[in-house]
Amino acid sequence: MAFVLSAERRAILDSLRPRYPNAKALTIPLLHICQEQEGWCSPEVIDFVAQELGVTGAHVQGVVTFYTMFLKEKPGKRVLWVCRTLSCELCGAKELQEHIEKHLGIHAGQTTTDGEFTLLKAECLAACGQGPMIQLDDDFFENLTNESVEAVIERAKKSSPKAAGKWSSLYLRGEKE
Ligand code: FES
Repeated sequence: MAFVLSAERRAILDSLRPRYPNAKALTIPLLHICQEQEGWCSPEVIDFVAQELGVTGAHVQGVVTFYTMFLKEKPGKRVLWVCRTLSCELCGAKELQEHIEKHLGIHAGQTTTDGEFTLLKAECLAACGQGPMIQLDDDFFENLTNESVEAVIERAKKSSPKAAGKWSSLYLRGEKE
């Protein structure tokens, strides 16, 4: 089924258009907004973005596959990213990832059988002074140990995921400035 942007997000897109030099430059913002709505960059989202911006599907696909923050597969209810870049790596990111994998019973790139968690590896998330760190949905958790990351995961299991809205609010905030 074709992807349809919600009225609220359509209004954000309309407000962004005059701020960018051309439609192609909106590829990343529009992908963020669409992923926020759909949960991932499905083939329908890629078609929609290409049509909306008048660019090729190959261009949009290229952007989606280049940036790790765009999800190429439908994730679980929560997405847990482990930063694997140098500063975090030096602080024990690999061991932390292995501990999370053991705790969740999956490997990076997989989703738990109950559909609750997808575990992914991320490139630097810009919290290099506080490694090792993870991003769970929109929240950062830093200076983690095996014990503290388990506590983060167990707390998350007991709460509902927050409604996604980070990118819409970010772009709306930019509009008001
Ligand atoms: S290296 Fe992990 S946040 Fe930068």
